[in-house]
Amino acid sequence: MITSCVFSMLIFSIVSIFATKNVEGSQPVLQKTVEALFTDRSDAIHPGTCKVFTSSKRQSKMCRKEPGLGKILVAAKQQAIAACEESFQYDRWNCSLVYNRKAKRSIFKKIYRETAFIHALVAASITHAIARGCSSGELSRCSCLGSFQNVSTQLRGGCGDDFKFGKRFTKNFLEWKQAGTDQIAEILKQDVNIGIDVVGQQLREVCKCHGFSGSCTTKTCWKRLGPFNSAMGLLKKHYHHAIKKKLVNYTTKRAITPNVRRKMEVDRKKLVYLQKTPNLCVSTKGRICKDRHNCATLCCGRGFIVGKKSVSSRCRCKMVDCCFVKCDTCVEEVDFFTCK
Ligand SMILES: *[C@@H]1O[C@H](CO)[C@@H](O)[C@H](O)[C@H]1NC(C)=O
Ligand SMILES: *[C@@H]1O[C@H](CO)[C@@H](O)[C@H](O)[C@H]1NC(C)=O
Ligand SMILES: *[C@@H]1O[C@H](CO)[C@@H](O)[C@H](O)[C@H]1NC(C)=O
Repeated sequence: MITSCVFSMLIFSIVSIFATKNVEGSQPVLQKTVEALFTDRSDAIHPGTCKVFTSSKRQSKMCRKEPGLGKILVAAKQQAIAACEESFQYDRWNCSLVYNRKAKRSIFKKIYRETAFIHALVAASITHAIARGCSSGELSRCSCLGSFQNVSTQLRGGCGDDFKFGKRFTKNFLEWKQAGTDQIAEILKQDVNIGIDVVGQQLREVCKCHGFSGSCTTKTCWKRLGPFNSAMGLLKKHYHHAIKKKLVNYTTKRAITPNVRRKMEVDRKKLVYLQKTPNLCVSTKGRICKDRHNCATLCCGRGFIVGKKSVSSRCRCKMVDCCFVKCDTCVEEVDFFTCK
């Protein structure tokens, strides 16, 4: 127990030193936490998971105060990775941690389009998981402000999906405010904000009627978030519409001319990154593509191999003995495509 604790602390400090050396600019807790969450692909849910990401007094304190947090962070991490892998399975970048299978080309080394996206994705997933944790009763300290209109005993946690709490909590946990004001920090803070806002856009009010035969004389309403997959759709749009920014050299004596000021300004509604993604065509050999159109892009024009595979499904279903549905199993040969 003690050895494993020391060991993980050791790993963490190595990771931090390593990371500080490689990424441009400073490496605040925000960056380290996003990286640690997205990098750990283990499925383990073990007590004290919250501590794995603890590199700050603030996070330790939040973990102590909220015993359900560790479990929620693991769920948030898994939800983010699963949604990413599903959504990008036919894209050149498929949520891998390195480009072109080269350990040196970590997606966290610079601020690539993918790095920007992951900051938004992880922030969105934590926000979503925390807000859900409020309605499921897993979290006890939710404010429930603005998440429901009138108290309903049917809601186990006493409130709906508490987005406002999730947003505040996530920013606190990522130490958003403490991330700094240098240009890199501003970019990552914006990327995190975009992710959180995407979740907020999924908030809907649902109502339940009470009264004789659905007459709806009284109703109870609460706020509910859509499934994370629908947030993922919006996040992927942001990934495609991300904008590349150049760092402005402040150290010159030059006054900030309107031209420089224009360069420093960015569209607040877009993901921002700094570095062009390397060409990923060398790594798509052997990847499965979806259809001829997708294969043309994914295989980078090298062509693809058509294979046959058997897929079984339920078919010829009919009702028997009044109330049971009986189906056969049909096996069908379908094409599948692999990049050359
Ligand atoms: C619940 O909220 C609705 C409006 O959404 C209101 O009409 C109703 O009176 C409220 N019920 C209670 C018990 O507060
Ligand atoms: C910023 O500008 C100064 C003065 O022109 C120069 O010496 C310095 O190398 C520049 N820094 C970067 C990072 O480009
Ligand atoms: C992503 O692609 C790489 C090859 O570029 C492959 O090795 C890896 O298994 C893929 N990952 C997933 C989750 O499909």
